[in-house]
Amino acid sequence: MSPSFIVIEGLEGAGKSSAISQLTSFIANKGHDVICTREPGGTPMSEAIRECVKHDWNERVTEETELLLMYAARSQLVENVIKPALESGTWVIGDRHDWSTIAYQGGGRGIQLEKLGALRSMTLGNFTPDLSIYLDVEPSIGLQRARGRGELDRIELAGLGFFERARTSYKELVATHSNAIEINAMQTMDKVQSDLIEKLNEWYARTQADIKVGMG
Ligand SMILES: Nc1ncnc2c1ncn2[C@@H]1O[C@H](COP(=O)(O)OP(=O)(O)OP(=O)(O)O)[C@@H](O)[C@H]1O
Ligand SMILES: [Mg+2]
Repeated sequence: MSPSFIVIEGLEGAGKSSAISQLTSFIANKGHDVICTREPGGTPMSEAIRECVKHDWNERVTEETELLLMYAARSQLVENVIKPALESGTWVIGDRHDWSTIAYQGGGRGIQLEKLGALRSMTLGNFTPDLSIYLDVEPSIGLQRARGRGELDRIELAGLGFFERARTSYKELVATHSNAIEINAMQTMDKVQSDLIEKLNEWYARTQADIKVGMG
């Protein structure tokens, strides 16, 4: 079975980190080599860009700057880490990828999707994940969880409306992509985990069946 690039997406506090450790065990238990990456970040230069994006600059950071930095970091990660891993037979799990830009910079900040599409095709070409897993939470619930970690400031700064718009974008993306799974992440952790495993098993079996058909 050729290696897949699987991405976990969702708002702050959706439970992405928890889902990633589960997903990693799932793939490893199937006998595959697997690495995890995060965005923005995942290469030395991309991690520096992450710091730069998160830094509290004493000047206005324009939406265009934020957007270009996201794609700069993503390009480094895809070309230097993700593609080489897949080519060497290693599976890749991504903590966020291009949907985050569509949801946050597109839906949240209101940058036109055409502009995002142009940047995407310039930096990524036709490279896309084999599977996107979206963890759906109401922003207020994610906010409550983030409050538990003392990360409220960043969220309060953007405002609930920003995250409502980002959530709408995510839901549209799931609805228009066949290689996407949505999980109700407002349930208990146990239920979220069992839903994830159930859907992963379905996906994995289906992918293997497709390969067999292709070979026949
Ligand atoms: N289903 C759940 N029910 C209750 N609490 C949860 C659930 N899922 C995650 N949490 C808790 O919410 C917090 C955020 O979870 P996690 O760090 O996995 O989210 P995240 O999506 O990775 O967030 P971020 O976008 O900030 O990286 C953690 O303290 C976690 O234990
Ligand atoms: Mg996380």
